[in-house]
Amino acid sequence: MPSLLRSVLAACALATLACSATPSNPAKPPVDPLPEPILDAAPADDARGGRLYDRWTAEADVNVEGAQRLKNLYGWDMRGTEGIYGPAYQNKSGVSTRNLLAAPQSEADLVAWLSAGDDELPALGEHLGEADLRDLAAFIAKMQRGDLPGPDAFFSLSADAPKHYVLVEGAEPAAGKALYADACEHCHGADGAQIQIDATLSLGAFMRTKAYEGWFKVLNGHPGSTMGREIAFDSADEAARQTLGILAALCDRDAFPPLPGQPDVPDGDPRCGAYLK
Ligand code: HEC
Repeated sequence: MPSLLRSVLAACALATLACSATPSNPAKPPVDPLPEPILDAAPADDARGGRLYDRWTAEADVNVEGAQRLKNLYGWDMRGTEGIYGPAYQNKSGVSTRNLLAAPQSEADLVAWLSAGDDELPALGEHLGEADLRDLAAFIAKMQRGDLPGPDAFFSLSADAPKHYVLVEGAEPAAGKALYADACEHCHGADGAQIQIDATLSLGAFMRTKAYEGWFKVLNGHPGSTMGREIAFDSADEAARQTLGILAALCDRDAFPPLPGQPDVPDGDPRCGAYLK
């Protein structure tokens, strides 16, 4: 007999009144309490973590006055002022000097930091739950370790190019177009114009001018929307190959035109480089 049950029955035998501690269903003896939940019991969702990095209020569906997006603090390339939002490039205000990709951190350290915040980062633990923080930490840790492809896999920084980036060479636009047909077309349409982005952009026009942001959307999805990580891969190299292929395919102005009446990038625009058609 389990020792707990034995001691409950012994206590009841001593009592003269009906014993309220008697198990209500004697066929089910009390069991030992479960151990504390293990932190890593369920695998964290790093794609969702990427969407939380992008816009945590939309992804977690919370309303927070003046919420700070992590992508505004550290940039789409996660390198703070060393990266595309820094003074040498897009020169945005309010960007952290912290380069999130500079050194690997443990997921536990990242959860602790994200939860408590610091001088720049709001204490996300006040608004997000444990599972959210673990998703976010898993994403950042994978980026730091190279288990997901980082910004260097997609673009190089450029002092001169519009928006200060140029797509890297070596993509396979034909493979990217086939992947687009499988993974994107049913929502964005065959020509990428079915969903209007920021009211004025087709998907093609968006990617030809904002691929420094677009790679992040392809890799992780769009926060608070039906779009998740729509590509499937089992290595960072494969993720990079697929994502860059899609970015390159969308540089084709005939296949993926702008919305009617909207401008497109001119011939020779450096952002798409040799992929521009
Ligand atoms: C299940 C439908 C669906 C699929 C599949 C899908 N998307 Fe999306 N996508 C959306 C929706 C909805 C939005 C959000 C539009 C909005 O609210 O501005 C979006 C947004 C985006 C954005 C961000 C635009 C912005 O506002 O910053 C990009 C880039 C994008 N999608 C690219 C892709 C690519 C590339 C693929 C294929 C790998 C893809 N999407 C697959 C539905 C989808």
